[in-house]
Amino acid sequence: MPPSLAVDLAPGHKTGLALRNPVMTASGTFSWGFEFAKQFDINALGAVVSKGVTIAPRAGNQQPRVAETPAGMLNSIGLQNVGLDEVITELAPKWAKWDVPVIVNVAGDTIDEFGEMAAALDGLPGIAALELNISCPNVDIGGIEIGQDPEASARATRAAVRNTDLPVIVKLTPNVTDPVKLALAVEAEGAAAICAINTVLGLAIDTKRRRPVLPRARGGLSGPAIKPVALRIVYDVAKAVRVPVIGCGGIRTGEDAIEFLMAGASAVQVGTATFADPRAPLDVLDGIEAWCAREGVEDLREIIGCALPAPV
Ligand SMILES: Cc1cc2nc3c(=O)[nH]c(=O)nc-3n(C[C@H](O)[C@H](O)[C@H](O)COP(=O)(O)O)c2cc1C
Repeated sequence: MPPSLAVDLAPGHKTGLALRNPVMTASGTFSWGFEFAKQFDINALGAVVSKGVTIAPRAGNQQPRVAETPAGMLNSIGLQNVGLDEVITELAPKWAKWDVPVIVNVAGDTIDEFGEMAAALDGLPGIAALELNISCPNVDIGGIEIGQDPEASARATRAAVRNTDLPVIVKLTPNVTDPVKLALAVEAEGAAAICAINTVLGLAIDTKRRRPVLPRARGGLSGPAIKPVALRIVYDVAKAVRVPVIGCGGIRTGEDAIEFLMAGASAVQVGTATFADPRAPLDVLDGIEAWCAREGVEDLREIIGCALPAPV
């Protein structure tokens, strides 16, 4: 018997968010999914998370937008995207034909915009949940202030939750002293699940030009380099909250994913690894299955949070 890998990421919520397995794509690394759907059966995944959507279309930041680092990459994309209207009229109807839940990642410049976008996406066939990007480090307004402040994060969550029946996942920034405070603040406002983490702020210098590589200097670090940071935050957040936690950061293999599950994540997202190999999320899934078979695990839920300290 293959192991049972099904998880529900919004168990207390009206609609729930049932995934046939815990492997999701990470926002911004899988575009809108259509290119990948030509390469493999994306219905094999647990869920697809879209690129970050803003109300108006965005052209994104000046090039270069990415820089290589020894164990990952720095990016400063600037939320290039087609805008909310196109997502509603063009993309969601296509997603509705897929047999995999699609989660739309939304980025508001203001707290009110999170409410506005949640209302506009509510009840649309093809959209299973929202993921709030309150932690994008690349735009000058909105994201950075909201995601780094527990009160503002709570208000953004409330704005979204009040305007939609969809489960609302809130994605945390690691660029704070205490991510647990943020997690508790958004959980209290009705976040159905918490995703940890977004990219870690970093910098690279071009020694020939004697300037930062990225035009805006700072970028978001992702890839294997941030895995221990992400694991630590998942572990700390999972200890503190009751809602499901989704682990994200540097996951490339089934073994990486198992570490996140043991640290308390109920699902994982695969991001930068997809740039090296578009099938990386499927490889992670295969790796989880093989690990469970080898270790005699019949239901993935047996290991979720098993590395957490026993409650006192
Ligand atoms: C090129 C690129 C674009 C990204 N765009 C978004 C985005 O639009 N919204 C978001 O919430 N996270 C975005 N992220 C962050 C990823 O979803 C993920 O949280 C982060 O990269 C850590 O996971 P990884 O190490 O597996 O890539 C982006 C990451 C990269 C590398």
